[in-house]
Amino acid sequence: MAQEITLSVIKADIGGYVGHSSIHPNLEEASREQLEQAQRKGTILDFHVTHCGDDLQLIMTHTQGTDNATIHGLAWEVFERCTQVARDLKLYGAGQDLLSDAFSGNIRGMGPGVAEMSFVERKAEPVLIFMADKTSAGAWNLPLYKIFADPFNTAGLVISPALHDGFRFEVHDVKEHRRIFFDTPEESYDLLVFIGAPSRYAIKAVYTKKDNEIAAVSSTERLSLIAGRYVGKDDPVCIVRTQSQFPAVGEVLEPFATPHIVEGWMRGSHHGPLMPVSVREANPSRFDGPPRVVGLGFQIADGRLVGPRDMFDDPSFDEARRLCNLIADHLRRHGPFEPHRLPMEEMEYTTMPQVMERLAGRWEALE
Ligand code: F6R
Ligand code: MG
Ligand code: MG
Repeated sequence: MAQEITLSVIKADIGGYVGHSSIHPNLEEASREQLEQAQRKGTILDFHVTHCGDDLQLIMTHTQGTDNATIHGLAWEVFERCTQVARDLKLYGAGQDLLSDAFSGNIRGMGPGVAEMSFVERKAEPVLIFMADKTSAGAWNLPLYKIFADPFNTAGLVISPALHDGFRFEVHDVKEHRRIFFDTPEESYDLLVFIGAPSRYAIKAVYTKKDNEIAAVSSTERLSLIAGRYVGKDDPVCIVRTQSQFPAVGEVLEPFATPHIVEGWMRGSHHGPLMPVSVREANPSRFDGPPRVVGLGFQIADGRLVGPRDMFDDPSFDEARRLCNLIADHLRRHGPFEPHRLPMEEMEYTTMPQVMERLAGRWEALE
């Protein structure tokens, strides 16, 4: 059998510049130096370092499979080294997402976000990597549903025999730590029962129904649930394979032309529109937002990352960005009121319960 390669995207917020708006170029530089060494040693085949907002993104290819201790350890070392750089510059929240002092074999559950998939490269292997800031894992539910299950978005579901059978969705319940699979189109209504509640149910992966080939994978870590206290939103990542038996590049990008409303934004406590931007524009500033998504495209060639192409660096997304600004204006007018502010159950994972605690003794029973 042909050799499988693994594409790993591992990210962490290990210090913001300025505040939580972006990252300092020295962090990217330090990461590149370390990953170059790892490439020379043969630990990884190739890499690309970038950022979305205050999150440092390590995109790597290798042959060690998913959940590999060497690869996760390498990412952990890079984040630790960058934390030092962040401390020297007194960047904001240096080391924020490294929730443990010591690496123990798998980076999952330790703070950073992880999306990984292994596959045998096709004759041509175009992939898109989405990275978001000021939001959380469920933010991919709506676009992934549209990409893989909505014929109004993905023409190929109707037109192409290679897509017409539909896809299989793996959904994680991030609160109860359990999972469930749904086949579409036949079970799309069942799927929507759960993924319509993205703060609790997140699409972890999508597969072709015919041969269970991996099509998409996302990070579903929930930092607040891991740490048991507010440590910021999870700023998720997602990998999507495209073309041929998968939706076309344009079908994968299309959902982002209609910005949907996600949770996150200021203090991880507000709803706001997800704005598709180029990497250059991925520096959320207004009210620490609005939430951003960048999309980088690569052709993978024998493990080499040929690219990236900055997919949202395209005037065809100008109207989506404009709409985001209009939605942001309107939501902002609600100030501290729901539905701009998250519902009470979600505020449980913010700092607000500490304020409520102080007032607890002042409540009087009604007759
Ligand atoms: C949202 C985010 C920021 C911070 C906000 C307050 O994910 O990271 O909006 O929550 O800037 O930050 P602190 O409490 O660190 O001053
Ligand atoms: Mg931050
Ligand atoms: Mg962030």
